[in-house]
Amino acid sequence: MQNNLPEKQIACLFDLDGVLVDTAVYHYKAWKQLANTLGFDFTEAQNEHLKGVNRMRSLDMILDWGGVEKTEKEKEVLAAQKNEWYVAMINKMTAAEVLPGSIDLLENLRAEGIKIALGSASKNSSTILERTQLTHFFDAIVDGNVVSKSKPDPEVFIKGAELLGVPAENCIVFEDAQAGIDAALAGHMKSVGVGEEENLKGADLYVKNLSQISVKEIISLVIR
Ligand code: BG6
Ligand code: MG
Repeated sequence: MQNNLPEKQIACLFDLDGVLVDTAVYHYKAWKQLANTLGFDFTEAQNEHLKGVNRMRSLDMILDWGGVEKTEKEKEVLAAQKNEWYVAMINKMTAAEVLPGSIDLLENLRAEGIKIALGSASKNSSTILERTQLTHFFDAIVDGNVVSKSKPDPEVFIKGAELLGVPAENCIVFEDAQAGIDAALAGHMKSVGVGEEENLKGADLYVKNLSQISVKEIISLVIR
């Protein structure tokens, strides 16, 4: 089955952490451990603001919450320490950690000829995709290794759309972070918020996880 208007190419741009896989909990654990070694803590509500934000910007925000000042060199060491703890966790991931509905949706999108790109801030995306056996679903991968600006800047999604050759207005972004929804808005793309509406202002549609959305509903976001 092809979508009703096959001449209109559609693309889905997926965030990784917290949308397809639950790595958000590993990021939280590793940052918390780092903050604790520096003598302070931060809340889950504060952690929400770290979602979608790149590694160095996250560290700056955490140090700010703890009232701790570090030199650029010290920050490099702290970020590397956090990443070491984080990578130790993601290296143990399996395909069982793919979030509900993800595989079915990715398969159904491919069956409809809809293009799929990754749009993640993470520099660890290839490890996660390999560990969870998701790599083969993607026509393009844009991650923290190839973008220079952190979400809410739309660079990550604009690059994905360009690689897929699909205009921004035909792109649908799937995001669990406010920074990501803001990036989609800034890129003039549609967005599906995965999680609580109160944390994801401005999305076109909200779901608790990807099992709650069909290809038909996705197509109707761009073809009306
Ligand atoms: C995003 C996460 O996907 O990637 C952020 O939501 C994280 O929490 C960012 O800081 C960068 O990840 P990494 O793996 O490059 O440290
Ligand atoms: Mg995310």
